[in-house]
Amino acid sequence: MTATPRRHETIVVLDYGSQYAQLIVRRVRECNVYAELLPWDATADDLARLAPRGIILSGGPNSVYDDGAPYLAEHVLRLGVPILGICYGMQLLAHQLGGVVAPAQAREYGLAEISVQAQGSPLFAGLEPTLQVWMSHGDRLDACPPGFVAIASSDNSPIAAMADERRRLYGLQFHPEVVHTPWGKDILRAFCFRVCGCRGDWTPGSFVDEHVTAIRERVGRGQVLCAVSGGVDSMVVATLVARAIGAQLTVIFVNNGVLRLGEAEATRQSLQRYLDANVIYVDASERFLARLEGVTDPEQKRIIIGNEFIAIFEEQARGLGQVDYLAQGTLYPDVIESATAATSAAKIKTHHNVGGLPDDMRMSLIEPLRTLFKDEVRQVGLALGLPEALVYRPPFPGPGLAVRIIGEVTAERVATLQQADAIVRHEIESAGLGRDVWQYFAVLTPLKSVGVMGDSRTYANTVAVRAITSEDGMTADWARIPYDVLARISNRIVNQVAGVNRVVYDISSKPPATIEWE
Ligand code: XMP
Repeated sequence: MTATPRRHETIVVLDYGSQYAQLIVRRVRECNVYAELLPWDATADDLARLAPRGIILSGGPNSVYDDGAPYLAEHVLRLGVPILGICYGMQLLAHQLGGVVAPAQAREYGLAEISVQAQGSPLFAGLEPTLQVWMSHGDRLDACPPGFVAIASSDNSPIAAMADERRRLYGLQFHPEVVHTPWGKDILRAFCFRVCGCRGDWTPGSFVDEHVTAIRERVGRGQVLCAVSGGVDSMVVATLVARAIGAQLTVIFVNNGVLRLGEAEATRQSLQRYLDANVIYVDASERFLARLEGVTDPEQKRIIIGNEFIAIFEEQARGLGQVDYLAQGTLYPDVIESATAATSAAKIKTHHNVGGLPDDMRMSLIEPLRTLFKDEVRQVGLALGLPEALVYRPPFPGPGLAVRIIGEVTAERVATLQQADAIVRHEIESAGLGRDVWQYFAVLTPLKSVGVMGDSRTYANTVAVRAITSEDGMTADWARIPYDVLARISNRIVNQVAGVNRVVYDISSKPPATIEWE
């Protein structure tokens, strides 16, 4: 694991199980203040390591009266830094410091209006006396703990916000992190800047500088290996590491035969242009296609492609002699997800394509992006000088077109889908829809149907077009692509792609469908 350099101000968010905990982190970071999520029972050492300027306690599903409910550790209070409790976090502060939390009569859920009683409080400085907020709580606060005063109220919550300005302890009954609280970000910003004294020193540029220095220090004269796929994450990692140690980095790019039309070439060009490192290009198309022969099960396809990739990567790596480090584009959501894997939902698809390298190839990991969300990775990419077209590329699955060809993957079917997919991409991008649509692509279905072309009857393939809008890929809706764009896509595909006589548009949302068809 890469030791994250700590040269910037940090706010720690303690996670009490709220679905919005990650959102708090993101909102704070949007204010250019670095924030990190820690479990509510983080040890004093965990906290000391981050030297936080302030602590935010997230909401959570519990009542402070539940048996075994998560609590606020003494060592958090002893740090003496400002604390902001949100929802359950506020109730905890109140409960543990001597206030009265009333068990729920009824849940309050949805929009509410609060009246700010203490406009002089730094938390509400400059804001209107009434604010729209988002509430979602069972218990509520009936009396503040000693030293605190109510600084806002709502019809249902006489103490909608409380403060002990002397000890710099604050509580909000509502959720400032969600978009339904329009001034929420100002409140969080006020907490970071006015209360905690942060200056906002965390920017994509400072991230690059810190990590270039840290990677240089850590790697010394060592050799680093990095696999790139052409996607944003691996490209940003490779560029960042190359910026730090240049010729000590070797980048491996494997063409697995199921890339999009022109992608292998485009990626090779980007590597040449933006990366000052050794690049190894392996065209393994035939090898992958041979392994995929006769395979129709999607999970099987993923496993074969993942394993084959590792085999090739290993062969290449062994040829290089001593390699000390492996640089990877692990992102923050993966880190958080694996930390909470025990409680996470059932696995729907195997998304992690690289299972792991054999034990004898011991390389330590360099994962400079492991604290970043996807949009932050994009910002870092721009700060590194990567072009927007690359940085804003839609996500593309590791197993590539193999999971967009339903049924067997053959060279011929790959070529058919590549052409149809290139048309979909080109038309959506030319219509200026590329940024509004999260992912857009073609799927080659296993369905053949009757058509007519000129005077003759055809019996040919059906291509499905999928375009979705999404915030994070977890849920999605089908994009309302204008009819004339769909018409051009359909026209061009049936006229220009041999073996396709029918085009359909997928109008399913996720859930219950998924984004990919396999
Ligand atoms: P689904 O189809 O599960 O996709 O709704 C959610 C997101 O994940 C991408 N995806 C993959 N990414 N390897 C990947 O790297 C995979 O096997 C894989 N399958 C789906 C999908 O494109 C979407 O962005």
